[in-house]
Amino acid sequence: MEKDQEIYQDLDRILVTKEEIAQKVRELGLQIGRDYAGKEPVMICILKGASIFFADLIREIPLPLTTDFMAISSYGSATKTSGVVRILKDLDKDIVGKDVIIVEDIVDTGITLSYLMKILMQRGAASLKIAALLDKPARRKVQDLHVDYVCFDIPDAFVVGYGLDYDQKYRNLPDIGILSPRIYGV
Ligand code: IMP
Ligand code: MG
Repeated sequence: MEKDQEIYQDLDRILVTKEEIAQKVRELGLQIGRDYAGKEPVMICILKGASIFFADLIREIPLPLTTDFMAISSYGSATKTSGVVRILKDLDKDIVGKDVIIVEDIVDTGITLSYLMKILMQRGAASLKIAALLDKPARRKVQDLHVDYVCFDIPDAFVVGYGLDYDQKYRNLPDIGILSPRIYGV
């Protein structure tokens, strides 16, 4: 997609280009490949935001991994988290004794992931790690959350693209950009 397309006009600016994303995702895939050498990790995609990151990441991991999908709700269409997390779609397979990697789009307050870690921990995984595309450390509300793999730390701004949405839009932008506040009416 070219940057003169109409949806790009809703951005204040591009924060991470698709080339930068591709480079980091490749490095992360290789690192996970080294860290999990000899293992068959279960990669869990947190729908829908992580879907594009997930599709790219797993293709860079040179291991016999398996995939599963989970959908949770924490946001609705607003730009601030509600703190309420609900499972909309659970995993298809159990994870007892498995090495699990949760793949998430962005860690903001951390409420969603810390809740997810708690419930997946109780299901008897051998190990549980988190891979996040983006991290907004300035917004963290949960202090005991350790994010094992992060592609980019970003400032406190609402971003869209490469899977991340505002009101279900902008997921198809190849780059990650700061959404213009006029779009969500601030
Ligand atoms: P947390 O529970 O506050 O960490 O929220 C995490 C979820 O909020 C992510 O999985 C996203 O769905 C959403 N979110 C947080 N910040 C952004 C953003 O800047 N753009 C789009 N979605 C976001
Ligand atoms: Mg999400």
